Amino acid sequence: MTDRTIAGFSRILAQTVVAACAFAGLVTALPSRAQAPTGFHQAPATTAQLANPYRGQSAAIAAGGALYAEHCAACHGRNAEGSGNIPPLAHGAVQQAAEGEVFWFIGTGDAANGMPSWAALPQPQRWQIVSYLKTLNAAPSASAPGPDTAAAIAAPPPPPPFTDFRYEAPGTVRKISVADLPAPYASASAGNAPQLVPRPDDAWPQAPAGFKVGLYAQGLRVPRAMRVAPNGDVFLAESGAGRIRVFRGMTADGKPQRSEIFAEHLKQPYGIAFYPAGPNPQWVYVGDTDAILRFPYRSGDFQAAGAPEHIADLPAGGGHWTRDLQFSLDGKTLYAAVGSGSNVDDPDTKPAEKDRADILAFDPDGSRRRVYAYGIRNPSGLAIDPRSGQLWCTVNERDGLGDNLVPDYITTVREGGFYGWPWWYIGAHQDPRHAGKHPELKDRAIVPDVLLQPHNASLQLAFYEGNRFPQEYRGDMFATEHGSWNKSVRAGYEVIRVPLHQTGKASGEYADFLTGFVLPDGRAWGRPVGVTVAPDGSLLVSDDGSNSIWRVDYVGK
Ligand code: HEC
Repeated sequence: MTDRTIAGFSRILAQTVVAACAFAGLVTALPSRAQAPTGFHQAPATTAQLANPYRGQSAAIAAGGALYAEHCAACHGRNAEGSGNIPPLAHGAVQQAAEGEVFWFIGTGDAANGMPSWAALPQPQRWQIVSYLKTLNAAPSASAPGPDTAAAIAAPPPPPPFTDFRYEAPGTVRKISVADLPAPYASASAGNAPQLVPRPDDAWPQAPAGFKVGLYAQGLRVPRAMRVAPNGDVFLAESGAGRIRVFRGMTADGKPQRSEIFAEHLKQPYGIAFYPAGPNPQWVYVGDTDAILRFPYRSGDFQAAGAPEHIADLPAGGGHWTRDLQFSLDGKTLYAAVGSGSNVDDPDTKPAEKDRADILAFDPDGSRRRVYAYGIRNPSGLAIDPRSGQLWCTVNERDGLGDNLVPDYITTVREGGFYGWPWWYIGAHQDPRHAGKHPELKDRAIVPDVLLQPHNASLQLAFYEGNRFPQEYRGDMFATEHGSWNKSVRAGYEVIRVPLHQTGKASGEYADFLTGFVLPDGRAWGRPVGVTVAPDGSLLVSDDGSNSIWRVDYVGK
């Protein structure tokens, strides 16, 4: 919904109220509270009073489920679980909001942020969808059938250098340049959320020749970011369970010897960092979506020694909940990556975007918050080059401009640097949804170092300094590509390698490294999220599609 619609709507409402009150001679007693917007997409307060004529009726719920599958599942997911900036409907704000507010929003939409208006659906159908949505909170329900992907799989190959899962193969080197970008809307904006299926017995991640892939851990609850403690313990944010898990040791067949819960009852933990540097950190820092917490820690602890200290608030709400953390090599600065709340809302007019789409910096005690770099739509992963101290990030760019826009990217981060969002993208390309705005920023928008496939949802980033892989991998980066809904044939769902050629600098190239998470018919069974280097030099990859962690080892030819 646009500001203009809100303004127009409340103006009409206000005029009606004024007229009614004037008639009753009560102009001074304007019931202004009734017009105040509530928290749910600024729905007019009156909408909360609307009664759902179908509430709790089983036939209506079934009809609503079918309508959901037909119209909504392609973006919000078969289980209404959401993805990237598409909010979940099975939990979160929708389950808190009044039925009338949800009904109103479905009819209104938010075109600028990719949510169509469904005003063309007759009102009874919209209410049936609301009835169905309100059943989802209670228990995980049967999945709605997903959209037909057969047509997408038969689609012609994308124009190079763009690609999709059908052509991903370990070792394939790719390079996208600024000159390759198509015009906005060259293709339609897709709704293609992954239809996750259980991993078939014969499906397994594929790595380049000489590498062997094993299952390190499984049965996890939404395993996300991972970081290795100085003593070699592997810390994992099990974001879906609100907890941090620790793995220790490695058996001969590549599994942890022990696994414990380090901390629980968190909101949505993601980033993990140890401080201070060296063999004996005193704290484990956690980016818990709306705050930075730190737990007292002594090397070797399996459980946090005490309650967490809340050292800073972080802006939260809307989409993009991950908050990765890193310390500068000199230990003086704590970086926190905070993605935008929306797809392309303008921070000039939307206060909810203040201090979002930024990398924020703090002193290690959480004080002196400042913006380190901005215009970075969703910087999901941060990494520091251990050789140079250079900060890098991996970024999910915006949706809604077509299959091959806008490339996600991996880049060095410059202090004070502006990376374009929401007015510009990949340097001096103006987002058509913000035409004419901020011409003075055009030449300041930095072109990132490595352009990735659009909509592959790049998440965590790790430098390889192990000594188990061949020498040419030393100093390179690995990144996970989670995959997104906004591409007609899915791309991503893989781990990539970014070569730095022993120079610490990217050439713009990347290579497919670990693939095979999508079946030939287009259904995905796995989605890489976290990547880190185990103490023995093997690579660990968390996967919140199959809720497991994969281990990639080098065994030679
Ligand atoms: C083309 C993709 C797409 C389709 C199809 C779609 N949505 Fe959405 N929906 C979105 C996006 C993107 C947002 C987030 C908008 C924003 O940030 O304001 C959203 C937001 C919502 C929200 C608000 C959720 C919240 O937590 O704030 C509701 C409710 C919703 N959609 C319901 C539906 C229903 C019901 C349907 C089917 C009738 C549907 N959507 C179809 C993309 C889609």
